[in-house]
Amino acid sequence: VGSGVTARKGLRAVNDAVEAAQGGRAEQISASALAEVGLRYEVDGEIATITLNRPDKRNAQTFATWSALARIGDDLPETVRIVVVKGEGPSFSAGIDLRLFTPGGVPGEGSFSSVLGEGFEERIAQAQQAFLWLRRPEIISIAAVQGHAIGAGFQLALACDLRIVADDVQFCMKEPALGLVPDLTGTKPLVDIVGLPRALELCVTARKVGAEEALRLRLAELAVPVEELDTAVADLAAALLATERSAATATKRLLQGAGSRTLEEQAAAERAEQVVRIRSLFASG
Ligand code: CAA
Repeated sequence: VGSGVTARKGLRAVNDAVEAAQGGRAEQISASALAEVGLRYEVDGEIATITLNRPDKRNAQTFATWSALARIGDDLPETVRIVVVKGEGPSFSAGIDLRLFTPGGVPGEGSFSSVLGEGFEERIAQAQQAFLWLRRPEIISIAAVQGHAIGAGFQLALACDLRIVADDVQFCMKEPALGLVPDLTGTKPLVDIVGLPRALELCVTARKVGAEEALRLRLAELAVPVEELDTAVADLAAALLATERSAATATKRLLQGAGSRTLEEQAAAERAEQVVRIRSLFASG
């Protein structure tokens, strides 16, 4: 009962903050509200760190987790350039909280059976907002992934621009094996990274991908011993921050658009970005 009350309070605090934002009132989501839904959030200069912090439940995710992640994205200080997403404990995230599929549901949040009617697709759209902001050109997001990253956990890692994994990582797109599809924005980055045939094989078999294969499939930029994960992420963040912000943002925007443009269109986009860059270098010099 105690944890149910806590979760209800946390969800209410997240919802209050969302309503305040929709009503135009700027209200920061508090650390205690985040803690109540199993998240920790720290901003240190140009680096924000979001930690899934329910290790006893292997950082399983609920609708409250996604509302809070979306709020963090909405409120992200403009000074932040790097967002690190990590998980406390042995697993990055065991995916969706499976209690949502039980009649009792998650304390304070209910179960899927209570949201199946009208507006259900909109609920999923809201949940997807937790993942989509991590691709903004103004930031670079890094997932630090140890242990299991299953279903929604794998998709959260895929929502980030870059992934550094520990040598015990186990990626698994479990949704099809549970009668579902991956719907938290993970299918596009997965296909973009590993290609359609491998994405199809990984999803429909729901098999696990370890560190060595993750590197080979380009699902990870780097694999390190688990005790070196934080240091490796900090080193990457420092290297990324060494480049001036507007150049980094313009470069990310340019690269992100490359997949949907022809060579000629991409060449034009390069020119357009470069004109702005060189003019600004002269203006500041
Ligand atoms: N939801 C709720 N609780 C979970 C959970 C989940 N997804 N995963 C783990 N837990 C809980 C366990 O119930 C257990 O709780 P209790 O101590 O209260 O019994 C606790 O976390 C520890 O779990 P394990 O003892 O199983 O830990 P482990 O380290 O031996 O195994 C694991 C870890 C392999 C991740 C295993 O827990 C597991 O297989 N979990 C389920 C994974 C899963 O199927 N997730 C759904 C993916 S699909 C998805 O995410 C859908 C979507 O996006 C739409």
